[in-house]
Formats: sequence, structure tokens, C-alpha cells
Amino acid sequence: MRKQISKTNQPLIAEPPRDHDCWNLRCGGRGICSSCRVTLLQGTFNVAGKTVDVRLGMPVQANACQTTLLSATGLIDIPDSAVLAQGGNIANEW
Ligand code: FES
Repeated sequence: MRKQISKTNQPLIAEPPRDHDCWNLRCGGRGICSSCRVTLLQGTFNVAGKTVDVRLGMPVQANACQTTLLSATGLIDIPDSAVLAQGGNIANEW
């Protein structure tokens, strides 16, 4: 899912990936599991301390928990694997 984002000075995970859904933060946002991996499509980002300028057509993979948008706006692609969707079923019978 493509998402247009605005600068917040917070890591990308500060905003929900989709309405009513949560990020898949298997390592708690420590940057070691890559479960929150997204594709940066456009904008300037800080990725784990490095400035990355992403232009349309030249995507960059990054962990959302380690990435902050530096430009006023940006465009990212969030795969289903980075999202914990609500509405799942929990087995309550054994
Ligand atoms: S939550 Fe593990 S790398 Fe982002």
C-alpha cells in the first residue's frame, strides 16, 4: 500500500501504517528484525543515521523504525508483512 506522509520529526512507526492497524514491530523497534521493512519511494529520509535522498523510480528499502522523513512530504510503500492487521481471530477453545 502506497502512503503519502508528512514530516513529523518522528520515526515512521510513530504513525499507524493504516487506519486501525499497527506496525509489525517484532524486535520492538530496535532495527534488528526487519519486520517493519518498507520501500521508500520519494523524499529525503534519515535511515539509521544516514541521509538518503530517494527519487521516484529509484526505491530504497528501509526499516520504518529506523527511518525519519526529513523533507516536507514523502511517499512510501508499506507491504502487508509490515502490518499487524486488526480483526484477526484468536482461538479460545482447545
Ligand atoms: S521493528 Fe524490528 S527492525 Fe523495525
